[in-house]
Amino acid sequence: MSDILIDTADGVMTLTLNRVDKKNAFTQAMYGTCADALAQAASDPAIRTVVLQGHLTVFSAGNDIGDFLTRAPSTQDSPVFRFLRGLAQFPKPLIAAVCGPAVGIGTTLLFHCDLVYAGDNAAFSMPFVNLGLCPEAASSLLVPQMMGYHRAAEALLLGEPFMAEAALEVGLVNRIVPPTEANAVAQAQARKLAAKPLAALVETKRLMKKGQMAQVLSAMAEEGESFGRMLQEPAAREAFTAFMDKRKPDFSQV
Ligand code: COA
Repeated sequence: MSDILIDTADGVMTLTLNRVDKKNAFTQAMYGTCADALAQAASDPAIRTVVLQGHLTVFSAGNDIGDFLTRAPSTQDSPVFRFLRGLAQFPKPLIAAVCGPAVGIGTTLLFHCDLVYAGDNAAFSMPFVNLGLCPEAASSLLVPQMMGYHRAAEALLLGEPFMAEAALEVGLVNRIVPPTEANAVAQAQARKLAAKPLAALVETKRLMKKGQMAQVLSAMAEEGESFGRMLQEPAAREAFTAFMDKRKPDFSQV
């Protein structure tokens, strides 16, 4: 079975992360599939909205750490960067349903969604510093903007997780629901949107986003340069090797 399930019905394209045995960690192939699906959804007039969902126990453990070691993104055309630009520039409504852990890009992608519904078990984290890395997906811009600088510093410098209630309070999440209902709520909202005039949705979203689109894309590109360099540095190599070896990282030498 594919690691990304794609289903289209009633004007709604649903992308389901389906690699639950690896906590829905994203591989380069999964980013590529999602990027292609978003491009198709953007251009197909029969698709009016996209839902991104995981499993009721886990949304995503972020980038696959084995992939970071062996297939790190090397250029701005890498699947992960295509996916991120596709998300940021996606012209139609984008809805996420999040249950369980949402780590790294599992959280940062949500800042590009229009509506987010969270199970009460959702746990968001952006532990880039703990991995010897820096923010991605324009999160260095969007996280302080949405959460305020000091809460952003806890999330991005300390890498501290925050739960569904905190995400609701800062406005990252629209509503908290029982995990068994999160995907259904997202689907119901998607169908409401799909029944509305598409041109009005697209123009409204464009107007809401246009003020800082250039900044978002510029932040993504600058973060991407730093992230790509830091992936090769000793701190990140130690963090990834430690994760694969199921031990605590030792940063005393870096
Ligand atoms: N990359 C690759 N494999 C991953 C992964 C990742 N990001 N996250 C989890 N896995 C794998 C584990 O290695 C394990 O594989 P195994 O069964 O072959 O040993 C399996 O998924 C289950 O993970 P486990 O850690 O046992 O599950 P858990 O429920 O105890 O914890 C998480 C879930 C998400 C909290 C934890 O897996 C985690 O912290 N993952 C890493 C997150 C991360 O740092 N991502 C990178 C962000 S940039």
